[in-house]
Amino acid sequence: MTGSRIVSLGHYQPSRVVTNDDLAQLVDTNDEWIRDRVGIVTRRIADGETVADMATAAAGKALANSGLNAADIDLVVVATCTSVDRSPNVACRVAARLGIPAPAAYDINTACSGFAYALGTVDHAISAGAARNAIVIGAEKLSEFTDWTDRSTCIIFADGAGAAVVTATADGEPSGVGPVVWGSVPDKGDAVRIEGWRPYIQQEGQSVFRWATTALAPLALRACERAGVAPSELAAFVPHQANARIIDGIAKRLGIPDAIIAKDIVESGNTSAASVPLALSKLVERREVPSGAPVLLFGFGGGLTYAGQVVRCP
Ligand code: UT7
Repeated sequence: MTGSRIVSLGHYQPSRVVTNDDLAQLVDTNDEWIRDRVGIVTRRIADGETVADMATAAAGKALANSGLNAADIDLVVVATCTSVDRSPNVACRVAARLGIPAPAAYDINTACSGFAYALGTVDHAISAGAARNAIVIGAEKLSEFTDWTDRSTCIIFADGAGAAVVTATADGEPSGVGPVVWGSVPDKGDAVRIEGWRPYIQQEGQSVFRWATTALAPLALRACERAGVAPSELAAFVPHQANARIIDGIAKRLGIPDAIIAKDIVESGNTSAASVPLALSKLVERREVPSGAPVLLFGFGGGLTYAGQVVRCP
């Protein structure tokens, strides 16, 4: 059966860097609290860029790194929860700007788990023969949905995009995208909300924190098991960049002392669906993970939703 693999990655972040001291000018907070409790030192905030602008920039880089042409792409999927326009969707805007002539194109919204969900659907589409060459993107402009007077959220969220080109494997080649483990906890849906017209992000931080540090490690281990990869074999763990303490807590329970643990949150903040591909793209760009090595992706957040899979590094 045909599988899929990631052949290349790309990412984009706005140029404007916002420090913790900058935020301390807006709300009653300080650099020490933000570093200790969340692990963020800086974040990037968009000026004029839209979600589609950032998604296109990341996807364009991934496509340029792939050796494929725009005309080869037959599926574009964008994970986002911050697109303002209802139609056309972001995937169609990206396709138009990159000159991809006739792809299947859809957006999905599972908030911070979005990239792993999107990658799961792309892998399924390729395995089913419905597509051969896809671009999967996580892109968010959370700054547009942030209450800049609320210190409990405005210090966390940021903007950016990451993208991967995913293609069908050759006959006999093992799949480079492992089975997705995905699900949700609808009962806890109120814990992260962007509701109504002109909404702002609101969250019950402690309840999400507790869920993330207790429920997710066994699910991430299941993704390893389903891929036939022992946790000790992982070259890297790239979780959603929600909070450095959550990342450390899950990593400890996975028992992966030798794996690289992505901590892009330090310089990029929490970019929801963009955080996993952004962090992965940077690891690959810095050549920190060898090609072919197994990497565990795991997203979680609003919904509450989660999804993860083991991928082979391009
Ligand atoms: O990506 C979407 C999914 N979301 C998450 O994964 C978020 C998970 N939750 C978290 O990351 C953490 O719960 C937060 C970073 C949101 C908050 O950290 P915390 O350690 O849970 O802090 P807390 O809400 O328990 O607040 C502790 C104290 C409070 O003061 P008192 O009541 O103890 O006097 C807050 O008012 O810290 C205060 N506080 C702040 N102080 C300085 C809250 N925000 C700030 C701030 N600066 N920015």
